Amino acid sequence: MDFIELESPERRAHLIPFRTFRYPVTEIIYLSPPSQNEAVDFFRVVKSRSTRRDFGQISLQQLSKLFWFSAKTSLEINLDEGHKWYHKPSPSGGGRHPIDHIIFRYERDKWIAFLYDSIAHALGKLKIDSADIGFWIDDLFSTLGINATTIVWNVAQFHRSTSVYKNASALIYRDEGAIQGTFGLVAEALNLNFCTIGVSGEPTISKLLMSRELIRGIGGFYIGSKNAQ
Ligand SMILES: Cc1cc2nc3c(=O)[nH]c(=O)nc-3n(C[C@H](O)[C@H](O)[C@H](O)COP(=O)(O)O)c2cc1C
Repeated sequence: MDFIELESPERRAHLIPFRTFRYPVTEIIYLSPPSQNEAVDFFRVVKSRSTRRDFGQISLQQLSKLFWFSAKTSLEINLDEGHKWYHKPSPSGGGRHPIDHIIFRYERDKWIAFLYDSIAHALGKLKIDSADIGFWIDDLFSTLGINATTIVWNVAQFHRSTSVYKNASALIYRDEGAIQGTFGLVAEALNLNFCTIGVSGEPTISKLLMSRELIRGIGGFYIGSKNAQ
């Protein structure tokens, strides 16, 4: 049988301490919050949403809007043992929000990785070898037959969920689904093209970030403007 049943999550009686992965951030780029909310008809957006597989360059301003409406943290509550509960546009099992977003962008002939900081609404430039990213992305693009200059990878700091739930894997993958749904609808509202990527990115993602212990690639998506050249 080719179906692995993920065991049902169970909340632990007590929160247990957990280790946070510290990303190798070398520089911070603060994004400007959108100046005004352009009104869009939500039901028109839901109706027109579709996977689209051609991607023009996406500006930093468009990325800022996408992340602001899809992933910005708007509430943070401190719990016991250094744990926190967060509110963001997507729901998350237990408010843990174990999934971070890495943005890979092709800029001036090389791939650069950034971490989205959902509290500061900023991008942290990551110290990851550009050639290593390039090898992996070339391979990914040729497997999927789709190219772009920006892809976003969702990376789970799984201890954020396993410290609260036994059998947390199913919750993490369902968080990923909620994230993909939110980004897909926001992308449509912003007139951007969006395509979920089915592969997890493992074992490459945890290798690029040099931490099998604390993180796992879960999935990603292509994002771009409609005017591909
Ligand atoms: C979990 C998941 C994985 C997907 N993986 C891929 C993928 O690897 N490549 C791709 O081109 N589309 C992928 N898609 C997009 C689907 O092919 C697409 O949603 C489906 O064909 C229905 O089209 P629609 O989104 O326009 O309704 C994925 C979608 C989901 C939800």
